[in-house]
Amino acid sequence: MTKFLAFTAAALLATSAAAFADGHGHGHGDPKKGEKEFNRCKACHMIVDDAGNAIVKGGKTGPNLYGVVGRPVASVEGFKYGDGILAVGETGMVWEPELLVEYAMDPTKFIDTHGGSGRSKMTFKIKDASNIVAFLASVAPEAAADEATDEAPAEGTATE
Ligand code: HEC
Repeated sequence: MTKFLAFTAAALLATSAAAFADGHGHGHGDPKKGEKEFNRCKACHMIVDDAGNAIVKGGKTGPNLYGVVGRPVASVEGFKYGDGILAVGETGMVWEPELLVEYAMDPTKFIDTHGGSGRSKMTFKIKDASNIVAFLASVAPEAAADEATDEAPAEGTATE
């Protein structure tokens, strides 16, 4: 368990993932299913780690989604975001699991609701991205995020 404590950042991510899953009634996101479901995103998004290794090969229409959970909105250097999401980024928002699910449901509406204006450049919607978001939470700089995600639901339940 000391290992778990050592990765505070990973634990925090996992805890918010669990809080989302328990608090919003979508059920627990399943990262294994999400990995498959990410096929729907990879036409436009790749997942490439900081060393340049492709975890999922994908298109360049959208920004790299490596470590997106816990990352400031619209912060991938060199990616040309639309004005709408840039304005949301300027509010200082950081991507949390529940926000990612909401975003994927309707990116343009998300921008409207969260302080931006204008169309999203992401012309794609998905009803329930909770599995995909659980998968995205597991591909992050802390390799232990994966492991921690599995333990988190118990914690989340205990607080309710
Ligand atoms: C048709 C291409 C396309 C598909 C398919 C697509 N996206 Fe996107 N995505 C984009 C583009 C373009 C942007 C940049 C949006 C902007 O600038 O307004 C984006 C932005 C994002 C962002 C914001 C990232 C950041 O750095 O703030 C997230 C998160 C995201 N997409 C998740 C997803 C997920 C999850 C899926 C699959 C369910 C998906 N996208 C499918 C094109 C796509």
